[in-house]
Amino acid sequence: MKRKAFVKNATLAAAAVAAGSFTDLFAQAGKASPKAEALVKAAIIGTGLRGQDHLELLLMRNDVDVVAICDVDDRMLADAKALVAKSGKKMPQVFTGDPYAWKKLLDIRGLDTVFIVTPWEWHKPMIIGAIEAGIKYVATEVVLGITLQDHWDVVHAAEKHQAHVTMLENVCYRRDVMAVLNMVRQGIFGELIHLQGGYQHDLREVKFNDGVKPYGGGCEMDEKGWTEARWRTHHSVYRNGDLYPTHGIGPIAHYININRGNRFLHLSSFSSKARGLHNHVVKTCGEDHPNAKINFKLGDVVTTSISCANGETILLQHDTSLPRPYSLGFRVQGTNGLWMDVNKGIHIEGTTKPHQWDEAKTWLDKYDHPLWQRWSKEAQGSGHGGMDFYVDHMFIESVKRKVPPQLDVYDAAAWSAITPLSETSVESGNRTVEFPDFTGGQWMYRKPVFALNNEF
Ligand SMILES: NC(=O)c1ccc[n+]([C@@H]2O[C@H](COP(=O)([O-])OP(=O)(O)OC[C@H]3O[C@@H](n4cnc5c(N)ncnc54)[C@H](O)[C@@H]3O)[C@@H](O)[C@H]2O)c1
Repeated sequence: MKRKAFVKNATLAAAAVAAGSFTDLFAQAGKASPKAEALVKAAIIGTGLRGQDHLELLLMRNDVDVVAICDVDDRMLADAKALVAKSGKKMPQVFTGDPYAWKKLLDIRGLDTVFIVTPWEWHKPMIIGAIEAGIKYVATEVVLGITLQDHWDVVHAAEKHQAHVTMLENVCYRRDVMAVLNMVRQGIFGELIHLQGGYQHDLREVKFNDGVKPYGGGCEMDEKGWTEARWRTHHSVYRNGDLYPTHGIGPIAHYININRGNRFLHLSSFSSKARGLHNHVVKTCGEDHPNAKINFKLGDVVTTSISCANGETILLQHDTSLPRPYSLGFRVQGTNGLWMDVNKGIHIEGTTKPHQWDEAKTWLDKYDHPLWQRWSKEAQGSGHGGMDFYVDHMFIESVKRKVPPQLDVYDAAAWSAITPLSETSVESGNRTVEFPDFTGGQWMYRKPVFALNNEF
């Protein structure tokens, strides 16, 4: 298909989107689409568990053609191919065989976008590789890079090549998180003062497994582990800081317009002692298991404070090695009241009873975000309570319309850079470190663009 024809069709498709005529967007797999020419040509690097989530979402759409997949692991590739077969869609080209097979994938002509869903250490080289190969829309799973310099390198590459880099931070689209965004924008909480969030998820059975099943049943990691135990646990051995900040900070950043009239100024982190992972190995596999000898560097609870240009404070917690129920621990507090997700409570002075919590559900239903009102049917059944649908939808719509994605490279850099900055702070005795301004001063002029209406 010629580029011009593609642009024309993409524009027509965008007009259909704007008009709300999405009847054929999610047509049954295998059925022909009248807008077949407008297909977004996509590739996925990394078809592990998360890559398969994205693959499934893309296969459900008839405006996307998954033309290539890449992985180094045969089992993951086989599972991904089974998903394609089940969908009835054409089998993508498969790239494998060595850790740099993805470079050959990037040579595919006319590739519109690539999804990077590999271990963290691969994100930066793959993002920059894709940008340098001429791809203008690059989606990466969290996080953007490892070192602070990695983050700068990605920002500079995106700017130099005028490429869009989106970090697929799905929690920004969680239904309650978006209802609260709606409430924030309508001034229900007054002027925002303090925000909390984090990643509080018992990952012991993710960081260790039996090398066969994804979750638990053993104490293996690195090459003997399976899926995230194969690489993620390694970071807990060598690094100490908030290793997974974006699920908490993404929503918070939208509440207070970070990079769009506001910015992070300073950060300091404190890390507790590390006991959880060691205890888990001993309890599950005994003191003689080789992994019982590992000295994990990552503190069980890492607490990070951030100050912002407009005077708000943020508290983030990374808590993945101890027994606990899942909670991202959101708290959004302003001059009129607050929301907390742990107790599912809201308090608004003058409206709810003095000094008492009101059930959040009533408020969250009332302020349900227009995006959820419009798209909840399509989102049903997609991962993580539906929010995975929205982040991929926003990105694919941006590719089709040739507009900047609502989550951009500056968001990705600022949110993800919390990790190396917190490591520096912990390492240097909890020193307060300056937060870099990846926008180069543009944060003062940029306007909010995230989820302003029900379009995408
Ligand atoms: N947003 C979310 O809710 C969410 C949930 C889970 C994971 N994630 C993120 O998704 C990413 C992947 O995590 P996962 O759970 O799928 O891990 P995984 O281990 O299941 O998958 C990673 C895949 O990358 C492949 N891979 C490794 N090196 C490669 C290379 N050089 N070339 C090609 N493929 C390579 C592995 O073989 C594996 O199949 C991580 O960034 C993780 O943090 C996000």
